[in-house]
Amino acid sequence: MRTVVHTRQGDPAQVLTVREDPDPPPSPGTGQVLVRLLVRPVHPGDLAGVEGLPGLPEQRPSEVRTPGVEGMGVVESVGPDVRALRPGRRVAVFPAPGTWADFVVVAADHVVPVPEGVSDETAALMLVNPLTLLMLYRALENALGEHEGPVLQTAAGSSIGRLVGAAAVRHGLPLINLVRDAAGARRMRDLYTTLPVVATGDADWREQVRHHTGGRPVRAVLDCVGGPLVQDLVTLLADGGTLITYGRLGSGTTALEELPLVQRGLTVRGVTVRHWTRRIPDERAQDVAFALDLAQHTPDLLEVAARYDLADVEAAVEHARRPGKSGTVVLTSRQPAGAGAGAAR
Ligand SMILES: NC(=O)c1ccc[n+]([C@@H]2O[C@H](COP(=O)([O-])OP(=O)(O)OC[C@H]3O[C@@H](n4cnc5c(N)ncnc54)[C@H](OP(=O)(O)O)[C@@H]3O)[C@@H](O)[C@H]2O)c1
Repeated sequence: MRTVVHTRQGDPAQVLTVREDPDPPPSPGTGQVLVRLLVRPVHPGDLAGVEGLPGLPEQRPSEVRTPGVEGMGVVESVGPDVRALRPGRRVAVFPAPGTWADFVVVAADHVVPVPEGVSDETAALMLVNPLTLLMLYRALENALGEHEGPVLQTAAGSSIGRLVGAAAVRHGLPLINLVRDAAGARRMRDLYTTLPVVATGDADWREQVRHHTGGRPVRAVLDCVGGPLVQDLVTLLADGGTLITYGRLGSGTTALEELPLVQRGLTVRGVTVRHWTRRIPDERAQDVAFALDLAQHTPDLLEVAARYDLADVEAAVEHARRPGKSGTVVLTSRQPAGAGAGAAR
């Protein structure tokens, strides 16, 4: 059994190692399932967890951590009271801390059976980002109230940004997409021909945004870049507008006190998929149905950028951070000889 571990926080390229453990995988307890993982994503949030982020628990000196919160695989065994899942079933898991390993033990209600026809790779990406999309969209609806927009999003070419773009096209949301350079803008225009795209590398990018809004101030911003860019985003916001922050791809910081929040009645709202489990079971079931529908009917929205064996985690991390990447890097484990054909789909 292989497990990616880190014993301290820091640059993932420096602190991650692959541990080979001769012991058998742990047994699932009551209400738990042991999953033999086949594919798991390398999300920016996984890397941020390795580096350490304000607001997240700091790693204790003796603590050994394994990154990863989602993935797909095959049920290996189930706890004594688990009836709905059987060994051999193809499943996706989230939240399942520690998926960068060959096996993970996860609560049975964090396990989603994968429908026929959904590929392993699509299944491995079908929960975190689609569920984040739903949370962002709810925050956006809340922020817009009776206004229809316009709305601005940063890092529009990211996996999440593309999901937001697709949702905007579908719902007629007046969305303006920010990317950081001309190459990113070209990729985004090819993907969504009807949505305006502006590269923040252009000196006049703020004017370009105003042009696209027809001079109307932006009602809400979806931002996952942060840092000094926030000052500009706030300048483009209407009085009473909302900055929805959900990531920190950029470097640097902006002090809250430097923003005219009080004077202009602005709202800053944080969104995290970590809070998704706080939704009641019926709501969670509806959200999972949405994610399954997306995986079945628009799998191209869950694009894989590249695949690496779990042992090549260092190369995978380097690729995940590479500019111009399209989609999500995944880490794979080989299916053992003689395992069911269903798992290989
Ligand atoms: N709050 C939550 O619960 C939650 C859940 C999921 C994701 N997220 C966040 O959402 C963001 C996107 O995640 P993802 O998985 O969609 O990412 P992704 O597919 O890896 O794409 C990230 C893209 O953002 C662009 N980018 C990177 N650094 C940037 C910078 N400094 N300034 C502007 N653009 C930059 C890059 O595109 P180019 O190289 O083409 O410019 C990069 O390919 C991340 O911040 C992630 O942490 C948050």
